[in-house]
Amino acid sequence: MTDLVAEIKKRLTSGDEIARKLFQRDLHEAIASTETPKETAIRLSLYPLQAAAARIGHDLRIFQTLDAQGPQTLKELQDLTGAHPLTLGRLLRYMASVGLILENSTGVFDANSKCRHLAAPEANIIVTHFFENCGPLFQEMPAFLRKNSYQDVTDGKATIFQPAYHTELDTYTYFSQNPENLTALIKYMGLEQDVRGRWLREYPFEGQTGNWNPTSEEALFVDIGGNVGHYCALFKGQFPNIPGRIVLEDLPGTLSHALPTPGVEKIGHDFFQPQPIKGAKFYHLGWILHNWSDEKAKVILQQIKSAMMPQSVLLINDMILPERGAPAFATALDLVMLGACGSLERTEAQWKDLLGAVGLSINNAVVYDQASFHGLISATLTSDN
Ligand SMILES: C[S@@+](CC[C@H](N)C(=O)[O-])C[C@H]1O[C@@H](n2cnc3c(N)ncnc32)[C@H](O)[C@@H]1O
Repeated sequence: MTDLVAEIKKRLTSGDEIARKLFQRDLHEAIASTETPKETAIRLSLYPLQAAAARIGHDLRIFQTLDAQGPQTLKELQDLTGAHPLTLGRLLRYMASVGLILENSTGVFDANSKCRHLAAPEANIIVTHFFENCGPLFQEMPAFLRKNSYQDVTDGKATIFQPAYHTELDTYTYFSQNPENLTALIKYMGLEQDVRGRWLREYPFEGQTGNWNPTSEEALFVDIGGNVGHYCALFKGQFPNIPGRIVLEDLPGTLSHALPTPGVEKIGHDFFQPQPIKGAKFYHLGWILHNWSDEKAKVILQQIKSAMMPQSVLLINDMILPERGAPAFATALDLVMLGACGSLERTEAQWKDLLGAVGLSINNAVVYDQASFHGLISATLTSDN
C-alpha cells in the first residue's frame, strides 16, 4: 500500500464520526470527479446488481463462510451451496469484480474487508430489508412519477408501493400478509433502536414532573402506535419513581404480540379515532407521522390535541431534516417514505407548520443523532386554544 493510501486510511479511522463521514464524502467526490461520463453512468446504473449480489451472497452464506473459514475453492463453495458450478462461478466472479470478495487465484475465493462487513448479522438484516422492502420501490419510482407528472404523492393506497408490489393494499397491510417482508422490517427496526432509543435521554422527564401529582386515573406516558412496547418498557425502567399510568396503544393485532412489561397497560386504539386517555402528562409518537401525509397527520394530531390539557406534552420522535445539506441516508429514507406510504420526512419548518395547523406549538426540537438526523420535538397546546 502506498504511503498516500495508508495516510488516507489513517484519517478515515481516526477522528469523530461526522469528520469521518465528511472525509469519506470528499474522497468519493474526488474519485467521481476523475471518472468519464461513461464510467459514472455505468457505475450508477449497475449498482442494483451489486445489491442483488449482496443479497445472493447472504442467501448462499458466501460472506459468512469466507469470513469464518478463509480461502475456499469453487468446488468447496459448490459443495456448501448446492449451486451449479457454472452459475456459482459466474456469481463469484462478479462479486470479486466489484470488490465484495477476493479472487486469490483461479477458482479460489477469500474474504476482504467488504466481505467481512457483509458477513456481520446486521449487514444481512440491512441488505435484506432494503432489497426486499425498498428495491421494488426504487425500480418503479421513475415510471410512477413520470405517469403522475411528478405531482405530490400523498395517498398511501395510491403510491409507488402498489404497482411495485402488484397489490392494491397499503404497505403495512401488505406486509402483515407477507411474513418475509414483515420480518425483514421488524429486524431492521430492531437495529435502529440503538440510535432511536436515545430519545429518552433527550428530554428532562424528571425535571418536568417535579410538581406532577397524579390521581390513580391519570397517565404519565402514553405511547401511541407504540408497537409491542419497547419504549414503554424503557420508560418504565428509566423512570420507575415518576407516578402515573404507563399506557401502550396500538392496533389490537400488534398488541397481541406486546411485551409483558409489569406496570404497562395495553389499550387497542386506532390513532385516527378519539384518544381514550385524556390529560396525560406525555403523549409519544415514535416514527408514526413520517408514515403519513400532512392531511392524515393532522387527523392523528387533532385526536391527540383534543385529549391534551395545558400541562400535557406531545413528544414526537422522528427525523428533523436540515433545510439544506441533508445526508444521503436521510434523503433516501424520505424517498422511501414517498414510495412506501405517500408520506415524507420533515424539516423543522415543516413540523412547525404541521403542528401549528392543529393548534400545537413546538417548545423544543433537538436533533439527537447528527448522522441520521433523528430528532425529538416537544409540543404543547398553543396558548390561544
Ligand atoms: C413505524 S411503526 C413505529 C413503532 C414505534 N412507535 C417505534 O417508534 O418503534 C408504526 C406503528 O404504528 C402502528 N399503527 C399503524 N396504523 C395504526 C393506527 N391506525 N392506529 C394505531 N397504530 C397504528 C403500527 O402497528 C406500528 O406499530
